[in-house]
Amino acid sequence: MRWNEAVSRIAPYVGGRPIEEVVREFGVVDVVKLASNESPVEPFPEVVEVLAATAPDVNRYPDSAVYSLTREMAEVIGVEPDQLWFGAGSSELIGELALALGGPGTNAVMAWPSFAMYPISTMRSGADPVMVPLDEDQRHDLDAMGAAIDDSTTIVYLCNPNNPTGTILPGDAVEAFCRSTSDDVLVVVDEAYHEFVTDPAHRSMIDLARERPNVVVLRTFSKVYGLAGLRIGYAIGQANTLVHLKRPQRPFTVTAPAQIAAAEAIRHPHRVEGRRLENAAGRRMLMAGLAERGFPAARSETNFVWFEVGPMAKKLFEDLQRKGVIVRAFDGAVRVSVGTEVENRRFLMALDQVL
Ligand SMILES: Cc1ncc(COP(=O)(O)O)c(C=O)c1O
Repeated sequence: MRWNEAVSRIAPYVGGRPIEEVVREFGVVDVVKLASNESPVEPFPEVVEVLAATAPDVNRYPDSAVYSLTREMAEVIGVEPDQLWFGAGSSELIGELALALGGPGTNAVMAWPSFAMYPISTMRSGADPVMVPLDEDQRHDLDAMGAAIDDSTTIVYLCNPNNPTGTILPGDAVEAFCRSTSDDVLVVVDEAYHEFVTDPAHRSMIDLARERPNVVVLRTFSKVYGLAGLRIGYAIGQANTLVHLKRPQRPFTVTAPAQIAAAEAIRHPHRVEGRRLENAAGRRMLMAGLAERGFPAARSETNFVWFEVGPMAKKLFEDLQRKGVIVRAFDGAVRVSVGTEVENRRFLMALDQVL
């Protein structure tokens, strides 16, 4: 068979392991999943209620134009409706925008390690990923990223805060980088974890995305809103830019339940604030617990914590699974998502047992 060569290069995305899989493999009960940076708790109660009411209507296709949610959301964040674009999670949008701009002979610049969908989507479009190592504080190295942009670059990804390290770049530095990037390179500022940040140096680039045609901000309902299973995320950018980026998108990818749930979720900003504070407390507990055990963590502003463990990363990941705790292993490091207080304690206890 004549496989598409660009696609054959892709190393498939490896996600957090599902609880059921770990139960089957290790025979452990009561497994805690701290592997996918999900919300450890249910969606808001108001959202659960409206979601249940959508069930009888799913014989119909959803509104492909996402009409009502777009208008409500535009009002909440202070943009025009045509400056918003929804997808089945922001991962879908990353895939589509890479197709809209990329292509063989071009490249996309990104920090590394960062979100795995950037290189995957780049390669899927036939373009080449240019991966720029993080600096010694596990943050994007903006000077090195700027220097990596060449005539073939069509996209630069800034993951702020960065997954998997949880680190942020100050808003002023991000803005200066965006402004200094040539107009024919799209800067994608991925703010999937924006709602968890407590450091005042952080700033969203939404205003800049409205001002500049080559800046787009990505957000998701999968994290603080607890809607990962429904798949819904969005982009903010100038209308003319979004028209081009949307072209490859299939119709109906954003389901009706997802649209209804997201519209309800944004009506409860106080609940977002509550979750930000709860998450910050859990994050402090994990970071302090790791430091006590001799693993200083990167300075996280997200709902996960990254700590370097050297060559034992894979072994630690497997041993923790045997104790019923699923985390993520990276090259020389482990990432643990913030769970409930009980789950965070379980992780630290399991860590003590396996060390
Ligand atoms: C940095 C970043 N961007 C985007 C996403 C995609 O989220 P979703 O496709 O669920 O909206 C994730 C998910 O983990 C992420 O970590």
